[in-house]
Amino acid sequence: MNPKFKNPRAKHNFIGRTCSITGIGSYVPQKVLTNHDLEKMVDTSDEWIRSRTGIRERHIAAKDEWTSDMGARAAQRAMKMAGVTADQIDLIIVATITPDMPFPATACLIQKQLGARRAAAFDLEAACSGFIYALEIAQQFIMSRTYDTVLVIGAEKLSSITDWTDRNTCVLFGDGAGAAILQNRDRAHGLLTVAMGADGEKSDLLFMPGGGSRRPATRESVDGRLHFLRMEGKETFKNAVQAMLSAADEVLRRCEIDIGKIKCIIPHQANQRIIEAVGQRLGARPEQLFINLDKYGNTSAASVAIALDEAVASGRISKGDLVLLIVFGAGLTWGAAVVEW
Ligand code: UT7
Repeated sequence: MNPKFKNPRAKHNFIGRTCSITGIGSYVPQKVLTNHDLEKMVDTSDEWIRSRTGIRERHIAAKDEWTSDMGARAAQRAMKMAGVTADQIDLIIVATITPDMPFPATACLIQKQLGARRAAAFDLEAACSGFIYALEIAQQFIMSRTYDTVLVIGAEKLSSITDWTDRNTCVLFGDGAGAAILQNRDRAHGLLTVAMGADGEKSDLLFMPGGGSRRPATRESVDGRLHFLRMEGKETFKNAVQAMLSAADEVLRRCEIDIGKIKCIIPHQANQRIIEAVGQRLGARPEQLFINLDKYGNTSAASVAIALDEAVASGRISKGDLVLLIVFGAGLTWGAAVVEW
């Protein structure tokens, strides 16, 4: 038994099976849209965007580049790191709010691109919290011995649901994808515990009104700009800080570890002020926080996956380090996870 984790909720201590992240990868599209570019599109300024959000630029997918393309590229990188071939994948879970189309699932389109013919495949919709939700579901399948190798992807083409005339939202988001391979492997990059939560009472803070069964696409829905996302920024901000804090507290308590023991905190990359507020209230040192939203903006379900990949690639996380992932998004949804890398 690992002496660091006495609490039985740290699952690999009592089930005798370890869910490990054996590969990680990410992909962002080539085109970069800077704050200065946005100054030419809406009434905004680089100074406002940087000081209110921390974002400097974001990547935007090409017209003929879909969520499935970005997800497949990130997946190939994660598979390479894990040494996993397409025919070894048992299940593909894609977290996204911007699927290629309402159905079939983007996971099926990625299965086709990868040639992962043995894999079951489905999409999961938990907005910006989707990657953590997907990690937990993957872990459950592995712990129950249903599957050995699960591919989890967070992928978004948010530029396709962004109202490029609305300065309140269009400066915030970007496109990209991150992926992880989860396997039953001993003591390597173990996923120790995951917490998830939701509050549907606040579903009207961040949503896209059109395109579903409530308001299907019509000429009126297009004219009314119902197929773009809408957000109550200030209320969302307040809820984000509270929910991320309580999710982080929950997983730290389960593992009986102090925030000081965490090498790297990877929060959802929506706003630098949210990240700093959460870090401060957790009692974290600034150098524990991983921030890359200056380059990518908010990429929703892809956000923490891209950040984890960058943190590993840049050497911010090494073998044995404890990593805390914290997410928050529309729904409202939230979650946190502790990983021993
Ligand atoms: O990923 C899911 C979770 N998402 C989040 O957690 C995002 C949470 N919210 C936020 O990050 C922030 O609320 C925003 C960055 C969206 C907005 O920052 P804020 O400090 O809450 O600004 P605000 O919405 O209260 O707006 C302040 C002012 C307003 O002008 P008035 O009414 O005071 O004259 C806005 O119209 O800033 C104005 N404003 C802008 N000005 C220049 C709003 N957007 C812009 C802009 N450029 N792009």
